[in-house]
Amino acid sequence: MELVYPGKKPREEILNGTVSCPLEGQLNGKNILIKGDNLTVLQSLLKNHQCAGTVDLIYIDPPFATNTVFTIGEERVRTVSMSGTDAVAYRDNLKCFEFIEFIRERLIVARELLSDTGSIYVQSDYKIGHYIKIIMDEVFGIDNFRNDITRIKCNPKNFDRKAYGNIKDMLLFYSKTKEIIWNDPTTALSENDKKRLFKKTDKNGRAYTTVPLHAPGETKNGLTSTAFKGMKPPKGRHWRCDPQELEALDGAGLIEWSPHGNPRKIIYADERDGKKLQDIWEFKDSPYPVYPTEKNLKLIKTIIAASSHEGSVVLDFFCGSGTTLVAAQELHRNWIGIDKSEKAIKVTREKLKNISNGLLSDAGYSYREV
Ligand SMILES: C[S@@+](CC[C@H](N)C(=O)[O-])C[C@H]1O[C@@H](n2cnc3c(N)ncnc32)[C@H](O)[C@@H]1O
Repeated sequence: MELVYPGKKPREEILNGTVSCPLEGQLNGKNILIKGDNLTVLQSLLKNHQCAGTVDLIYIDPPFATNTVFTIGEERVRTVSMSGTDAVAYRDNLKCFEFIEFIRERLIVARELLSDTGSIYVQSDYKIGHYIKIIMDEVFGIDNFRNDITRIKCNPKNFDRKAYGNIKDMLLFYSKTKEIIWNDPTTALSENDKKRLFKKTDKNGRAYTTVPLHAPGETKNGLTSTAFKGMKPPKGRHWRCDPQELEALDGAGLIEWSPHGNPRKIIYADERDGKKLQDIWEFKDSPYPVYPTEKNLKLIKTIIAASSHEGSVVLDFFCGSGTTLVAAQELHRNWIGIDKSEKAIKVTREKLKNISNGLLSDAGYSYREV
């Protein structure tokens, strides 16, 4: 499947063309903020700075083809202690296939920067997001599509138009390969969750539940198809672990036997500190952003914590007010931020100065302009 539109460049042309305005000299340090058009900068990182395969995580929040001029107003200017009155932060005026090609060119180059265990998250909305999904299927491969996360971004609104209110945007999550950095994120169990999920109580009053010890799929070789206490896994299934481990679980009193002699693993509520994070997230953006379309810091921290390690390089090439860079810094990741807006860079530098773990001064990162 392919999205067809006028002006779609061959992939080779995007990757092999000359870099119009390369980033000169050495890039020093682990954290880098660059002001400039991101296509040029990405191409230059790839060709002139040997950055291919060095980035573990990309998060971007590009313009969404909204045909809007975003300004920084008086209130926001004061918040970040900048001088001046209303000023254009950036213009989002590419439309239709021109916008899609703008995103596609950048995704093609960005993929080359990702490490083999790397991931990319693209923030988008309900109007353009489905086209971006098709482009990402083309660039990253449909098999590397991992999630379409619904993000609840604001309180309910009363639209005038004849449609449902829109309180969500979308995050498309892809990986470069199947083997990815993944720190399984969990959310806390509520008291209600505990009551619902752990209905049984043992003789000491501890709440628990049980889960099957076998899973679908027969294994022809290997220990998980062999007998445990003389019992083979049911037809078409295999043990979840080898019989030696099952014996150890039984010895520790962590297997409950049904009246029909079926073993199930005991899971105690007080040993479970969370449940798996699902694909609907609520991280509302501030009603008083310091930069237009500034994203929720906790949203980006969730992504960074799940899809990178300490010391990983996190890249945001539409970094705006630098939310991703602050999140990365606070989570002890290295980062590269790119934006072409003077206002964005100014706000980012202010934010980096006020960062909570105090690791950064202007000397804590390199700053370049293209
Ligand atoms: C939606 S905002 C990002 C907001 C950001 N996530 C935050 O939390 O502040 C998009 C940003 O992309 C930048 N941008 C748009 N086109 C660009 C380009 N070709 N190169 C670099 N930056 C660009 C804009 O200046 C703007 O700051």
